Amino acid sequence: MNALILSGGKGTRLRPLTYTTAKQLVPVGNKPILGYVLGHIHDAGIRDVGIIISPETGSEIKGYIGDGKKWNIRVTYILQSEPAGLAHAVKTARSFLENDDFIMYLGDNLLSHGVKDAIREFKNQSPDALIFLKEVDNPAQFGVARLDKKGNILELIEKPKRPPSNLALVGVYIFTAKIHEAIDKIKPSSRGELEITDAIQKLIDTGCKVKSGLLDGWWLDTGKKDDILQANTVVLDEYIKRQIKGRVDSKSRIIGRVTVEKGATVTNSIIRGPVIIGQNSSIRDSFIGPFTSVGEDVTVIDSSIEHSVILNKAYLSGVERLEDSILGRSARVVKNHDKHKALRLMIGDDSAIEV
Ligand code: TTP
Repeated sequence: MNALILSGGKGTRLRPLTYTTAKQLVPVGNKPILGYVLGHIHDAGIRDVGIIISPETGSEIKGYIGDGKKWNIRVTYILQSEPAGLAHAVKTARSFLENDDFIMYLGDNLLSHGVKDAIREFKNQSPDALIFLKEVDNPAQFGVARLDKKGNILELIEKPKRPPSNLALVGVYIFTAKIHEAIDKIKPSSRGELEITDAIQKLIDTGCKVKSGLLDGWWLDTGKKDDILQANTVVLDEYIKRQIKGRVDSKSRIIGRVTVEKGATVTNSIIRGPVIIGQNSSIRDSFIGPFTSVGEDVTVIDSSIEHSVILNKAYLSGVERLEDSILGRSARVVKNHDKHKALRLMIGDDSAIEV
């Protein structure tokens, strides 16, 4: 079985971060989301991996994955000239996929248990397609399944205004070559994309065996800011260990599961885990609270941060209380000493600031 990882797309909902970073490379727990995906693919024993890339962010994705040796996989990059939908991505990868079965994994999705069990289920049941469903609170933002009383899928609807259930389609699918015939029969949707839900619906309508599984463990789709913060929370909660490789002075307190990477320094500060502080970052006279990932070469002075993701080279000084925030690379947030408390901003397009 091959894998197809989708790392193209527009990432409009994560602007401005996605003006300079592929959304699959936004870090949670200081590791790009795509790194977790590739780890899962390797753990499932898959070695041939096609990676869909876009003209805008393809080189950055290639820079991260390289030849795939780090994950012990063989990588083929497949350029999708425009983000014309998930089914369009499969169509673009047709010659790589040949007539083999394949697992399609959206490069911005995170699963707690990986995909080993999913592949085992596919091999046991030998359907034409296997999809996974998960109960969510906000089904209108996903592809949603309507099932009959026996749990068979009757219909899949992309981002329905009135969702027929709270069962969302997870971003992992296992297909046989039948999906290509189905994709050839569908037309672009009202939003102009070739939808994978429409192709799966076509399989159902033409009598193919489409099975669904319910997923154990968590699943996170990291399309928006709050999704990244939630993913960061879940990943830190699950994976962070207490590991102090950097320098912590005697006036500081490190409480709970905190990783301080090599070359990082913590001076006269309190760090309450789960937290990760990246290499060569400097934390001075500050409080870093639970569920915060601080990247590399970050400086935090006289500030308090909680439940946030701070990317490499950011600089914070005198920030009384920063919560639920994502700071991009080399972003600066500093307190000014103006007695009128004027805001002085230089922010990029599509930034969001709450004051
Ligand atoms: P989406 O989150 O559905 O789309 P998007 O990345 O364009 O984001 P937005 O809606 O915020 O503009 O995509 C899911 C995953 O599939 C993501 O990793 C990007 C990838 N993708 C492709 O590789 N090609 C495509 O044509 C599309 C639509 C998505």
